[in-house]
Amino acid sequence: MGLLTLADHVHDIAENAVKAGAKNVKLIINETEDFFLFSVEDDGPGIKNVEDVFDPFYTTRSKKIRKVGLGLPFLKQATEATGGFVKIESEIGKGTKVTAKFFKKHIDCQPVGDLASVFFSLLMNQNVNFKIIRCRNDDCYSIESDIIKKYLGNIDSSSKLKILKDIINEMEKNLEEE
Ligand SMILES: Nc1ncnc2c1ncn2[C@@H]1O[C@H](COP(=O)(O)OP(=O)(O)OP(=O)(O)O)[C@@H](O)[C@H]1O
Ligand SMILES: [Mg+2]
Repeated sequence: MGLLTLADHVHDIAENAVKAGAKNVKLIINETEDFFLFSVEDDGPGIKNVEDVFDPFYTTRSKKIRKVGLGLPFLKQATEATGGFVKIESEIGKGTKVTAKFFKKHIDCQPVGDLASVFFSLLMNQNVNFKIIRCRNDDCYSIESDIIKKYLGNIDSSSKLKILKDIINEMEKNLEEE
């Protein structure tokens, strides 16, 4: 697994929530010229011992397919390399919130990468309700599974896939043009 961009980290942490069985996931990204801050909040089962998850050999995935769990250790290493941090708040039976901050001007900060593709692949999941709030320099947009469902129904054709992809790309592009 190569987590080469900040978008890759966002994807891994959001996928953790999905794999844990969350039904609702809220992803917030707050970016400025100086930092990239994101949080993923889910209503999954929670984590018993939050310190365990930073151990590379801790994973609850089937041992046949996964002997290590590297997403969170990599995230911790990558944030701290920039002077940032990762924080986990979790309550059994309630859910988990992971917050991570990167300082973009640090020489060791990874590039932001392709967030639009990450949002697209998360929103393709029809079983989990995603709410994504994306801000850059105080300009924000939000996109959620419920609203997509309301206007497009199930994403079950290539034309709907294209519409969804175009919407996300357009919103992301509008932020960049500020
Ligand atoms: N949101 C979450 N809710 C419940 N458990 C979680 C959550 N996020 C992580 N975990 C637990 O922490 C473990 C480690 O997560 P981590 O992302 O580091 O590795 P992984 O997902 O198991 O494997 P990888 O990310 O390398 O594919 C998971 O196996 C899971 O048990
Ligand atoms: Mg993971």
